[in-house]
Amino acid sequence: MDNIAIIGAGTMGHALAQVFAQGGYQVSLHDLSEEILQQARRLIDANLDTLCGAGLFDPAEKTAVLDERITYTTDLTTAVARSELVVEAIVEDREAKKKLFADLDRLSPPGAILASNTSYLDIYQFVETKRPGKVIITHWFAPPHIVPLVEIVPGPQTTPETVATAKRIIDGLGKQTIVLKKFLPGFIANRLQAALSREVYHLLDNGYATPEDIDKATKASFGLRIPILGLVKRLDFTGLDLVQKVLRNKSYQPPPVIERSESVDAMVFQGRLGVKAGRGFYDYGEATTGEILRERDVKLLKLREFLIELGELD
Ligand SMILES: NC(=O)c1ccc[n+]([C@@H]2O[C@H](COP(=O)([O-])OP(=O)(O)OC[C@H]3O[C@@H](n4cnc5c(N)ncnc54)[C@H](O)[C@@H]3O)[C@@H](O)[C@H]2O)c1
Repeated sequence: MDNIAIIGAGTMGHALAQVFAQGGYQVSLHDLSEEILQQARRLIDANLDTLCGAGLFDPAEKTAVLDERITYTTDLTTAVARSELVVEAIVEDREAKKKLFADLDRLSPPGAILASNTSYLDIYQFVETKRPGKVIITHWFAPPHIVPLVEIVPGPQTTPETVATAKRIIDGLGKQTIVLKKFLPGFIANRLQAALSREVYHLLDNGYATPEDIDKATKASFGLRIPILGLVKRLDFTGLDLVQKVLRNKSYQPPPVIERSESVDAMVFQGRLGVKAGRGFYDYGEATTGEILRERDVKLLKLREFLIELGELD
């Protein structure tokens, strides 16, 4: 397999194109406008510089990845015409994905695998193609050129061959794959994050703690242990007899399921949309979004390399 198409060049799509191009594939990156594609190219350029700075990418390879292996196109027909794997990373919207998959089915070679990067949507309930055996979810994590995990989630009609091919390709890119038995909204990692986020909104909305205190409590306690122990081995270290007692402790009640958070709403109302706006729960001063992302990425790369050295990551 040589030709890959990435549909959607936003937060995830631009870096997915980069990962496949770094893996030696010819990549067509498609989005709706030239401006978005130019921005995607700039972001890939910056990502590659960050990797070069960390000694993880050879600067001599940059032109090959950026301009020879990736083709940027607003024409969907051209993008998928020769692709053996198409990875969809457009907006998380049921109708948009439904329409796109119908187009992809019509325009892609009959043998092509059609993969979705959806975070939560059960695409198997609404996507209609003549190749249900070749439709699959491959769920990456931001930033996908740094974070290793990809969750592979087959649908009821996805064939074992499609699962095996998707896994072989993604493993070959140096990623760590998990194959889920069947669809479950949020898969594994996002479900765990969602459970924690519910507590974050509860603590903030009810005035129990500040954003700084919550992050301090996270980073200086269980956050430090997680990269070494995960969440299940941690139970062994706690002692399962104590875990059993904690489970029976009725004074802990999980927060109710909510559809809105007063703290989040207040931020959005003030235009504090997070890193992209230079401020959210935190203030990022005069730094540009690119500088903020670069600082995060440099630290993530150092941490990832250290965990590999410790034998805690492959
Ligand atoms: N952002 C994350 O951290 C993250 C992580 C894992 C998975 N995902 C999933 O990946 C997908 C993309 O998320 P994102 O954060 O990159 O979104 P994004 O909004 O940053 O980018 C989406 C891009 O898709 C383009 N687009 C929209 N409709 C299109 C169409 N019909 N054809 C071609 N391009 C189209 C938009 O112009 C935009 O550039 C979503 O399904 C999301 O749930 C996101």
